[in-house]
Amino acid sequence: MFKKFMGMFSNDLAIDLGTANTLVLVKGEGIVINEPSIVTVQYDHAGKERILAVGHAAKEMAGKTPAHIKAIRPMRDGVIADFHVTEMMIRHFIEKAHKRKRFFSPRVMICVPYGITQVERKAVKESALNAGARAVYLIEEPMAAAIGADLSVKEPRGNLVVDIGGGTTEIGVISMGGLVLCKSIRVAGDKIDQVIMDYIKKNYNLLIGERVAEDLKIRIGTAVPLETELTAVVYGRDQVEGTLVSIEVTSEHMRSAMADTIAEIVDALKAVLEETPPELAGDIVENGIVLTGGGALIRGLDKYLSDIIKLPVFVAEDPLFAVTRGTGKALEQLDSLQHVAYEN
Ligand SMILES: Nc1ncnc2c1ncn2[C@@H]1O[C@H](COP(=O)(O)OP(=O)(O)OP(=O)(O)O)[C@@H](O)[C@H]1O
Ligand SMILES: [Mg+2]
Repeated sequence: MFKKFMGMFSNDLAIDLGTANTLVLVKGEGIVINEPSIVTVQYDHAGKERILAVGHAAKEMAGKTPAHIKAIRPMRDGVIADFHVTEMMIRHFIEKAHKRKRFFSPRVMICVPYGITQVERKAVKESALNAGARAVYLIEEPMAAAIGADLSVKEPRGNLVVDIGGGTTEIGVISMGGLVLCKSIRVAGDKIDQVIMDYIKKNYNLLIGERVAEDLKIRIGTAVPLETELTAVVYGRDQVEGTLVSIEVTSEHMRSAMADTIAEIVDALKAVLEETPPELAGDIVENGIVLTGGGALIRGLDKYLSDIIKLPVFVAEDPLFAVTRGTGKALEQLDSLQHVAYEN
């Protein structure tokens, strides 16, 4: 009875716990938090850790911290690399969402990377409960991505969604409210940043940081040749001389740098298509494939994939928000969802 009473005042929350970005949506209000999944912690002489900053503020510090301060991405590569810090981060974001408006113990739907272990699931749930949630539900990322991309997930029809995030690319075939098939590879935005760093180092002897590489990817990265190639100037440290220098890089360079990594995504996609049962494959040929996640924004990626796999490829509306939207929709349908795509 008391719980029911509290429920009347609570604004339920949907959380997209991404390896690169965490987003929080408040039911009836929309997305209220969209911040990098980064925490900076400080260590005292006893080695005890204390949170310095979370999200945007922590990303600002990344790569610029002294020895006793560490910028941590606790969910790197689609697994929870650091439970304690992940828990602190979840709590921080829930409390931040709370502060915008007084909530009485909301219900929380959290989207987690596909294939995380039972231990990791339990840790995620407990951190939300500790932060004051009344009930916690988990939904897997490909399912949330498909719902967010407005695919008809409940129908007995095959839908294929490719979510290219920071840490992982998840390729899921969905029918009748469930994942029929899913492949998750640890090749996504972060890996692309890494290969860009390696490329610049190998070809120009120039050392650049992760953030600079990401910036290059977003500003001039492309999967296909462009009519007018783009250029950008980067600053870095010359590996041999040790001096600070600047060079100009082009979108063609980016395309060569990114080629092998994009090919890995193509291979995974081909493998999933090969394993898809023929009945569902027919639907996918008809409907095409939908891309979500930040990686869907790589220039020309839809065209590039479509040329190779010979199927229509679409980019979801606002692909960076698709998973959050889907998690929010799943939360709204919590009471009505027949085929339960989440667990509690
Ligand atoms: N315009 C863009 N072009 C290319 N990549 C982009 C663009 N915008 C964002 N990204 C990349 O998208 C990635 C983040 O995407 P997203 O927020 O979907 O990941 P995530 O949900 O946190 O990660 P995951 O789903 O793996 O847990 C980052 O690697 C970022 O660099
Ligand atoms: Mg994601």
